This record gives sequence, structure tokens and C-alpha cells, in this order.
Amino acid sequence: EYVGVLHGLTQLETTLSERLGIRQVIIVPGDSETDSSVLRELGRTAAGILTECLQDNMIIAVSGGSTMARVAETVNVVLPTVTVVPARGGLGEQVEYQANIIAAVMATKLGGRYRLLHIPDGMSEEALDAVMASDANVSEIADMIKHADILIQGIGEAGTMSKRRSHEPETISFIGQNCVGEALGHYFSFSGECIYTTNSVGFRLDDLAKVGKVIAVAGGRHKAEAIVAVTRAAGQDVLVIDEAAARAIQSII
Ligand code: F6P
Repeated sequence: EYVGVLHGLTQLETTLSERLGIRQVIIVPGDSETDSSVLRELGRTAAGILTECLQDNMIIAVSGGSTMARVAETVNVVLPTVTVVPARGGLGEQVEYQANIIAAVMATKLGGRYRLLHIPDGMSEEALDAVMASDANVSEIADMIKHADILIQGIGEAGTMSKRRSHEPETISFIGQNCVGEALGHYFSFSGECIYTTNSVGFRLDDLAKVGKVIAVAGGRHKAEAIVAVTRAAGQDVLVIDEAAARAIQSII
């Protein structure tokens, strides 16, 4: 029976990869929203994909979130020449889910280096420009982020993320009305249009084209619309999802 399920998932991987226009879709059996062992497996699978792509001297950019925290924890190769950087700074996450922490955990697992971005949350565009202009360290890391060889990122529901980041009530309601998905501080409509972006240093949508490889990781059926929105907005090379998300995506595209 298990083999039958796996075979079915392989077919679903092919279907979703064609419909979403993503080179490789990988589906982990189960539902990570209700079963923490599935979330761990999702992280472990994504960590395996990441380490398969790794070569000496590469730069990896990582996003924040609970899924990426699982990915970082389960990395188990040693590659001391690799550098890990956060994909964006200051998105208002609780400490253990901040991209900085996840970058440090991942780099430690790899025996490699990390560079961190110390950008406070909610800075204005002008203040950010001033920091970039005056702080060589920040602008150097921002440059590393934009030239990363691999970006590995989480995807979230727009409404959940706007509340988790404690945006202003008007912003939360605007996002709630217009957006379904979020990645790297960008909020997207179901058709993949970027509707709202939080101010921060690091990846912007336009930078994605320059990255060697983009890996997105997300699970749970509630993230189905968000995953479709984000993949429509920006080409992902690899999408690692759980079965619950995969089946929900299949029913809406
Ligand atoms: O805030 C960082 C981030 O990667 C978001 O871009 C994404 O929406 C979210 O975390 C995913 O978080 P989680 O894995 O906890 O659902």
C-alpha cells in the first residue's frame, strides 16, 4: 500500500511540476500542519536537496520561519568553504525564526562561515539607504545576498505573516483583502502579482533571476494558495512540499 501511495505521489510531482512550471517538485508523504514528524521530514528532505547542490565556496541565502529552522537543523554534511547569509534582514520574526539565526545554525552544521545582517525592523526606505551608504559591512553582505549561488526560502500565507509580523492594522487589512502568499517580505495575489513589500535589506524579487538556484520549502494544506501565488510570481527551481499541500494545490490549479 505504501508503495502505491509513493507511486501516486510521484505522478502528482510530475503533474504539479508541469502545471506550476517548476523543474522539480518533491512531495513528502503526510501533513506537516498536523504531524510534527512530517515537518521534520520536510526539513530533512529539503536539507538533502540543498546539500546535493552544494559545492566549495558557494554562498547560500536562507529565509526565516519555522520550516527553514527545521531545514537548518537537519543539514548533515560538512563543507567549511561555504558561507551562509540571511536572505533578508529584519522582517519582524521572533528570534528563533529570524533568518540571521537560521543562517548561523545552518553554517555551524556545515562547519562553514556565516555573515549576518543587523537591520532593525520597520526602518524607513530612507533610513535603510542611509545605513547601506554608511555601513560597509551591511552593503557588503547585501551584495553577497544578491549574488548567492543558492537561495532556500519558506513560503507563508499572507494573512498569517502580516499578523505574525505585527504590521499596522490598515496594512494587515490591506494585505488580507489583496494578497494570499508571502515570501521574503513580498506579499502576492493569487495570480502572482507583488502587491506589498516590507522595507528591508536583502533580496528583492528582481534579484531572483541572478541567483543560481532557488529552492522553496512549505507544507500544510492551508499554504496551497500561497505556494501557487509565490511560484507564479517568481521562478523556483525546486519546490519541496508535503502531501497535504500538494493535494490542495492540485485542486486549485
Ligand atoms: O519571515 C520569513 C519567512 O520565510 C516568510 O517569508 C515566510 O512566509 C515564513 O517565514 C514561513 O514561515 P513558516 O515556515 O513558519 O510557515
